[in-house]
Amino acid sequence: MSRPINFCSGPAALPLPVLDRISAELHDFQGSKISVMEHSHRDRLIVRLFEETEARLKSLLGIGDAYRVLFLPGGATLQFSQVPMNLLAPNESAAYLTTGAWSQKAIKEAAKYGNIVEVASSKETNFTTMPARDTWQLPADAKYFHICTNETIHGVEWFDSLEDLGMPVVADMSSHLLSRSMPIDEFDLIYAGAQKNLGTAGVTIVVVKEDLLEGCQPLTPGLMDYQSQIDNDSMVNTPPVYPVWVLSLVLEWLESLGGVAAVEKINRQKAESLYAAIDASSFYRNPVAKDCRSWMNIPFVLSDDSLDSKFIDASQNAGLLNLKGHRSVGGMRASIYNAITQTDVDTLIEFMREFERVSA
Ligand SMILES: Cc1ncc(COP(=O)(O)O)c(C=O)c1O
Repeated sequence: MSRPINFCSGPAALPLPVLDRISAELHDFQGSKISVMEHSHRDRLIVRLFEETEARLKSLLGIGDAYRVLFLPGGATLQFSQVPMNLLAPNESAAYLTTGAWSQKAIKEAAKYGNIVEVASSKETNFTTMPARDTWQLPADAKYFHICTNETIHGVEWFDSLEDLGMPVVADMSSHLLSRSMPIDEFDLIYAGAQKNLGTAGVTIVVVKEDLLEGCQPLTPGLMDYQSQIDNDSMVNTPPVYPVWVLSLVLEWLESLGGVAAVEKINRQKAESLYAAIDASSFYRNPVAKDCRSWMNIPFVLSDDSLDSKFIDASQNAGLLNLKGHRSVGGMRASIYNAITQTDVDTLIEFMREFERVSA
């Protein structure tokens, strides 16, 4: 049987060439005759792996020496706390935009460490829109502005500029970092768990402008102090070496495709074809406003929700995995990260048409 297509929102599909390299090189990391997991992180090979992965990521993002890239534990969820612990004092304010469930979680955690001001929210539209920029109430004294630029559950993506906010910008890009070119210099700190578009769970990428850091709250664990992680090249303790290796292989694969500009072209086409198929049918519907539809996470509902479980069973039997929407929104969701090809998307569209034909 051919390999199923995994539309999971994360942990997500990995590129087949990356899986092949993992399997070929697992027992012998770079000629050392032992696996990457068995090396000391102080070993020259591993130190070089970290240096090269940072350089690769910076080059793909098109950023210079003002930024450092950290490889940290704890998932994007820990960043919900680590960001305010490092950038905020308990009596200071930070501005947060609410664009979906992940923004809400970020606010809930951050509120433990300072005064969090919600500048606007799209809750009223069930997170099917982005809050219009002219409605944002930005407090002048905020230490930073936080945004989740791609809401994985609701399928809304930020495409506008964040220039001229007058404060540092922090972004959760967990589900679309390196999916298309972005004005990275508008951001002062970016974080992303690797297990969606960039590799496997266990490492969180933090891209940070070093001059943003002025010291953290006194109770911050040493492991969570960005400056200390910078000073120790992400090795304050034993780092997640295996996920960093997988990340490095994914980045090499991305380079071999032609980098971010090339993958952007592919991703645009994939998303446009799937949205076009959904919009052309009265059997399927995507609830998100057209100007903020995510290229990576595409939720859709069936006009008759009593067919939902039949759709899931049939898609699974056809080798199309994990199309069930998040439990909080229901319906379906196709996550089409970089590792998903146009052919994979075409297979899904074909399946959807056939399901409609036999069910409508
Ligand atoms: C946008 C976004 N932020 C944060 C998270 C949490 O990530 P983690 O499980 O790595 O903590 C997720 C996970 O799905 C996500 O999609």
